[in-house]
Amino acid sequence: MFQFSDRMNGLSANAIREIFKYLSDPEMISFAGGMPNRDALPAEILNELSERLFRDKKIYSVLQYGATEGYLPLRESGIEFVKRVGIQGIGLDNTLVITGGQQGIDLTCKIFLNKGDCVLVEDPTYVAVLHILKTYEAKAYGVKSDADGINTDDLEEKIKRYHPKFIYLVPTFGNPTGKTYPLEKRKKILSLAERYDVVILEDDPYSHLRFGGEPVPSIKSLDTTGRVIYNTSFSKIISPGIRCGLAVADPEIISKLVLCKQATDVHTSALSAALADGFLRGGYLDPQLKKILPIYLEKKTLMREAIKKYMPKDFECTDPNGGLFIFGEFKSGKCADDYFKTALENKVAYVKGVDFYAAGDVHNSLRLNFSNSTNAQIDTGMKILGKIFG
Ligand SMILES: Cc1ncc(COP(=O)(O)O)c(C=O)c1O
Repeated sequence: MFQFSDRMNGLSANAIREIFKYLSDPEMISFAGGMPNRDALPAEILNELSERLFRDKKIYSVLQYGATEGYLPLRESGIEFVKRVGIQGIGLDNTLVITGGQQGIDLTCKIFLNKGDCVLVEDPTYVAVLHILKTYEAKAYGVKSDADGINTDDLEEKIKRYHPKFIYLVPTFGNPTGKTYPLEKRKKILSLAERYDVVILEDDPYSHLRFGGEPVPSIKSLDTTGRVIYNTSFSKIISPGIRCGLAVADPEIISKLVLCKQATDVHTSALSAALADGFLRGGYLDPQLKKILPIYLEKKTLMREAIKKYMPKDFECTDPNGGLFIFGEFKSGKCADDYFKTALENKVAYVKGVDFYAAGDVHNSLRLNFSNSTNAQIDTGMKILGKIFG
């Protein structure tokens, strides 16, 4: 009866959104989504900021339609914010307020990709990117990953072979692995992108969630040719529900993103943007990070300990200094997908590693989120998984 577009062929719900269906069960222990801890959501501060906004006459401009580029004060405070990752010397015309980092990825695909175009991703990569690429009928090719992130020899070979429109990377506390690329690797990636004239989409929702190690400058901060699009998000450090982030790029790229964003949602909610702006300008971010980072470090440490205690010996996992995820692989090649249903039946959710691979052909891994469970749930949940995989 319905004549859907060709692009709907082969498109199914993103694996994580599917798992959300099971998470309404109050007994479920979820290591699945990438949600901040409930205690990390700054409800009281946001309440105070919104009360202040509504007391002010300026609220009427926030409640009105606005420019597609986004709420001006947030574009200004965003310029200050990205200095934290080393991005200097940018102006308003380098910025666009986006409806979460996810929209930055979607709009980048929209302005660059024709049907059949190719994008390189680290294998494994953020699952939603694979989903978004399908909606543009583009092809994702996976590049091998080393302990410290994408393998640059394989990257070069695949740039030469596939001529990608852009390379999508999460270089800091990547999703799903939690890996962070060292500075030398970032420089090498940039020099390859320059040599072969490729754009980079640097997706960075996690770099402020650092609870160990030393900060590394963003790839964008090293970019002198304007080929890096930098996407940041307030989801993991303020609230995912406000759906607000910032894209930083060359003005020519921003103007194209703006054209497409106008068609998509006119502009990001100015109310959300005003809350994010109030949070940044009010100096709430550092105390917020000071509060949540020790909690996340504790949870990551507990999860690593529980993995060691309960999971089979051949299960090797990452040990990130930040972000929200641990990624583990069965070195014996055991298929993690086979146990997924049993885990859900036993009230523990994880994400199958296969969903993060461009070709969907690696089956021995799983992603575990540590931020959203209580400490007791981390121990109980890993004990259950240990029994299932044992
Ligand atoms: C790597 C990465 N990029 C983008 C996003 C999207 O985040 P949001 O749209 O909430 O900013 C996420 C969310 O989990 C993510 O992990």
